[in-house]
Amino acid sequence: MKLRSLLALFFLAIFSFSLVVSSAKEHDLDFLECLKKAHESNVYTPTNSSYTSILSFSIQNLRFDAPSTPKPLAIVTPQQEPQIPPVIRCARENEMEIRTRSGGHDYEGLSYVSKVPFLILDLINISGITVDAKSKTAWVQSGATLGSLYYRVAEKSRTLGFPAGLCPTIGVGGHLGGGGYGTLMRKYGLAADNVVDARIVDVNGRILDRKSMGEDLFWAIRGGGGASFGVILAWKVRLVDVPQNVTVFSIDRTLEQNATRLIHKWQSLAHKLEKDLFIRVILSRMNIKPNQGGTGNYTIRATFNSLFVGGIDRLLPMMQESFPELGLVRKDCITMSWIQSILYFTGFPIDSLELLLERKQSSVGYFKAKSDYVQNPIPENGLEGIWRMFFQAEANLQAVMIFTPYGGRMDEIAASSIPFPHRAGNLYKIQHLVFWGAAEAARDSERYLSWIRRLYKYMTPYVSKSPREAYVNYRDLDIGANNDNGTTTSYPQAKIWGSKYFKNNFDRLVRVKTVVDPGNFFKNEQSIPSLVIR
Ligand code: FDA
Repeated sequence: MKLRSLLALFFLAIFSFSLVVSSAKEHDLDFLECLKKAHESNVYTPTNSSYTSILSFSIQNLRFDAPSTPKPLAIVTPQQEPQIPPVIRCARENEMEIRTRSGGHDYEGLSYVSKVPFLILDLINISGITVDAKSKTAWVQSGATLGSLYYRVAEKSRTLGFPAGLCPTIGVGGHLGGGGYGTLMRKYGLAADNVVDARIVDVNGRILDRKSMGEDLFWAIRGGGGASFGVILAWKVRLVDVPQNVTVFSIDRTLEQNATRLIHKWQSLAHKLEKDLFIRVILSRMNIKPNQGGTGNYTIRATFNSLFVGGIDRLLPMMQESFPELGLVRKDCITMSWIQSILYFTGFPIDSLELLLERKQSSVGYFKAKSDYVQNPIPENGLEGIWRMFFQAEANLQAVMIFTPYGGRMDEIAASSIPFPHRAGNLYKIQHLVFWGAAEAARDSERYLSWIRRLYKYMTPYVSKSPREAYVNYRDLDIGANNDNGTTTSYPQAKIWGSKYFKNNFDRLVRVKTVVDPGNFFKNEQSIPSLVIR
């Protein structure tokens, strides 16, 4: 090609590129203008001095807080519910993606990161809670945290509680939308099982309650992941009875104290215990002095961590009969109110109730998590393979597995009652976690990601199959195909992860989505697809 033609091509390329860039910028300006007109205050763009602190405030996983992480064009923090429909209108008119954030705990950062131009609708100020102890219900807005919900319930009554997650800073909006479990789950099921009404803004900007949204959509948002269907403004929840006092215990056993045999036994009994008794197992690696047992310098610590919804005198004989090998004695047990048990499981001093109102965790780090369901006990030699994985170098900072017992109320609720399908037949759920720090992240985060993927692969023969089930609130982008720009998910692609999170409920979720948001406006890398082709 002649030099002149080459130069012409070069200038043409530059010209078209600048046209695309300037029209993209104009489009962004139109969008921002619309937003500011509709919203006057509470719109933060990168030119605002508080933009970065507002963005980072709710981020719980530093993997998604790097300078290279895509940032939103704007963050909107409405003060009142009626301010939300205009945000949706501006975003739709300008084809701008919305990420709704309540507590920001999403494991893959989906509430505040997107690969296409986007805004964050941050519900941090939509966080009111009204408790009616007489009818045993509460209305709680999505931006409220679990800790504040527990606190407000306890303020009204010491004998009412709510069966949701263990970490007080979790947002109600995302948590109930994905299920939500905690120490009361064997007695009362999931948080989403105890939702009786909700308010949502749909794609047309209408504010709907249970009656006006209809039972199909009301079914979908209780466990199907709210982000696919609209913006959930508030949930009405049924509160549950708790006694004046409950009992807690935490017993550590190492490999040298027969941990492998104890865990092996726990697998067959934890799901069969009375509904009042919840015993989970937390596995971690522990450094010990050289040559004192374990493998080299390390051993495994199994923490049997329990809530009993009753008193010590009933608990001790029950444990003696079902799990004498653990050796639980009276001095291991602590009596406290249910609200104090929330602090106990968080590791806070049990008399510092005000800590439940803190929105920010004292420290956050880099992590990756995965989940599994176990339907047959893992043999002892299978457990020993896990210990070998924990002795690898990548587990040095912290690697944890949490075994959460199922059974009880979880077995009684039909798999199709809400989109969360993991019910009868499951002995327990596993959460696999690996954490690392800023220094390791600066060197090589991939190392830790690859370790947890190896652990997950190792677990294949021991966990549920066809599909290999997963918990949607432990969002994991590894488990299915998602396309590169993260804007659409086709039905066949989505079915890969969809059947893992929702089993047979996935197709009903797709049908609801197709009716309520046919144009697929509410989307993320793992949102429910619409069958309408645009
Ligand atoms: P976030 O705001 O990140 O939202 C999560 C998802 O829901 C995103 O896709 C978001 O767009 C969408 N969303 C949020 N608000 C919405 C709204 N109002 N309308 C529509 N869509 C909305 N789980 C559990 O069951 N039991 C537990 O004990 C724990 N413990 C725990 C501890 C820690 C430290 C973390 C980081 C996470 C957990 N989880 C958990 C998982 C937690 O339940 C899950 O991440 C929830 O989705 C978090 O809800 P947030 O509102 O905080 O997240």
